[in-house]
Amino acid sequence: MKRSFIREILEHTTNNTISFAGGLPDEKLFPHQALRDAASHILSDARSLQYSNSQGHLPLRNKIAHLYTAEGFETNADNIMITSGAQQALDIISRYYQHQQITTETPSYLGAMNLFDLNGLAQYPVTLRSDGIDTEAFEKSLSRTKLTYLVPDYQNPTGYTYSQKKREEVARIIKVQQGILIEDAPYSELYFKEKQQSISRLIPKQSFHLGSFSKVLAPGLRLGWIRADKTLLEPLLAYKEAMDLHSSGLSQMILDHYLTDLHGYRSHTMLLRKMYGKKMQLFKTYLDELLPEFDYTVPQGGMFIYGRLPGISTSTLLTSALERGVLFVPGREFFHTDPEDDTMRLNFTNCRAKEIYQGLSILAELYRETRGRDANAA
Ligand SMILES: Cc1ncc(COP(=O)(O)O)c(C=O)c1O
Repeated sequence: MKRSFIREILEHTTNNTISFAGGLPDEKLFPHQALRDAASHILSDARSLQYSNSQGHLPLRNKIAHLYTAEGFETNADNIMITSGAQQALDIISRYYQHQQITTETPSYLGAMNLFDLNGLAQYPVTLRSDGIDTEAFEKSLSRTKLTYLVPDYQNPTGYTYSQKKREEVARIIKVQQGILIEDAPYSELYFKEKQQSISRLIPKQSFHLGSFSKVLAPGLRLGWIRADKTLLEPLLAYKEAMDLHSSGLSQMILDHYLTDLHGYRSHTMLLRKMYGKKMQLFKTYLDELLPEFDYTVPQGGMFIYGRLPGISTSTLLTSALERGVLFVPGREFFHTDPEDDTMRLNFTNCRAKEIYQGLSILAELYRETRGRDANAA
């Protein structure tokens, strides 16, 4: 079992490193004071330190259900299981489906691919394009695997978003093939213009919709959830119970208290969208100025810009970038098979403006050096 490359390189980050590597939110935008107030209120009652319920704190499940229903996706507390981040949601589901076959996007989220490997799922990667998965290949693959894992909103690593047409086509295929969708949606609230409709909403009886508070509030809470039809959700409860009894009751109660001010939460996500949208524009401006050779699709939300640097191996580039204190993730890490060597993922949410400029200048310099060296060698 290989460790996550990203988690390993994050361990090499110092205060002086300019890191475009992790999917880290901007900590200056954490609702620190509001969470601190909520924590202090919750801790004033010693019962907040007691064991809790496996499916999750009922008032919190009610609030998450309300958020879905308010958007037209009818949901109640029975459809929600609280998990320790979306990562545990993926773990629970992949243990339940262990040793089966699964259709994935390629490239895909590294943390999911590692879990599928760990749980013996055979992965069948299908090419992801900038408007969504290649639906012809998807249909063929799903007829064999029945199970699929997709990240339709601002995908990790590519930042790609499925078009409405592709969402409908994917839902139609899953319906016809009587398949099951695992829709991982931790970035859905981080849209720059408009919120996308989930695929799960089109096939509520055949989908697990995974959410997380990591990207919109704080990853340190370690709270996410699974939204599914009761018949799909109930068998997962035994797995959740066996894994950790329940997610931190204290974290759940703090979050629940924070969410009682729904208006405050909505203002916070609105602020995040605005600030991340601005940061992406700035990153794009510097990127186009300093590294015009980088060929990428402008993301409509999320945290990542992904693209191709023609003529070089980004793994080689990373080795020299590390020496200069700059980190990013080479695209090859996100491929289960047939990795692409000239792609890379850049996070735009975590660095300050000055660091972005400096980091991209170093990458541009190293890119030209590497290309020059390769041309001379030829
Ligand atoms: C696509 C995707 N799914 C799941 C996760 C895990 O998120 P969480 O912090 O909620 O466990 C991440 C984290 O980066 C992610 O990018």
